[in-house]
Amino acid sequence: MKITVIGTGNMGSAFVKQLARAGHQVSVTARHLEKAQALAAAHTGVGAIAIADAAASADVLILATGYGDAVDALQSAGDLTGKVVIDISNPLTADYMGLTLGYSTSAAEEIAKALPGVEIVKAFNTVLAQVLGEGADFGNGQTVPVFVASDSLRGKDAAKTLAESMGFATIDAGGLKNARYLEPLAGLNIYLAYGAGLGTSIAPTWISRA
Ligand SMILES: NC(=O)c1ccc[n+]([C@@H]2O[C@H](COP(=O)([O-])OP(=O)(O)OC[C@H]3O[C@@H](n4cnc5c(N)ncnc54)[C@H](OP(=O)(O)O)[C@@H]3O)[C@@H](O)[C@H]2O)c1
Repeated sequence: MKITVIGTGNMGSAFVKQLARAGHQVSVTARHLEKAQALAAAHTGVGAIAIADAAASADVLILATGYGDAVDALQSAGDLTGKVVIDISNPLTADYMGLTLGYSTSAAEEIAKALPGVEIVKAFNTVLAQVLGEGADFGNGQTVPVFVASDSLRGKDAAKTLAESMGFATIDAGGLKNARYLEPLAGLNIYLAYGAGLGTSIAPTWISRA
């Protein structure tokens, strides 16, 4: 799959590492091209591109900026019509212990509203950067799941394929509206990691009796 990662921070760099390892054709872009070039240089077969070329270089884009920068970043990414964009954001307050929106909307829905014609998928927002970077296998038969919510079946399939190629399990979480549940779920995960002191090698999952 041809994938462009937008952002070179904690999540962007973990995605580049895992996607390259999984054998995808990966490009990375950033506000400052030098940061993308430095990240690309650290991984075999990864290219750095200008943000304006992000859409043209990819089937799927992973938006790895903060929520506040998301729409600006996508609006400078070229023609995204018909492209799949994976939104991993959590609309966090400055202290990371709350959400700035929710209940009647979500970050994913707000991004989708601002970019009509783009197939937005909510995924990976409950996976901490350390977990993404270190991998989905937690041992003892435990595999970190990626919750996937979208109104685009094609988008959902792409996100699932991509997550599974990196070794994650996937859970179909329904339509994009269910990002209203996934973003608070990530909030709880962040509280448990940092507020309750469980650390960053944790992930939410779902169990069911066979
Ligand atoms: N960290 C986690 O564990 C985690 C887990 C799940 C989901 N998330 C979500 O993932 C997203 C990224 O988190 P992070 O921890 O990776 O943040 P981060 O380390 O602060 O990285 C954000 C990246 O976005 C880039 N950026 C900002 N505006 C941009 C623009 N207009 N065009 C291109 N790039 C732009 C920044 O570039 P500059 O360096 O040039 O500013 C930076 O590389 C957030 O929405 C967060 O809620 C994070």
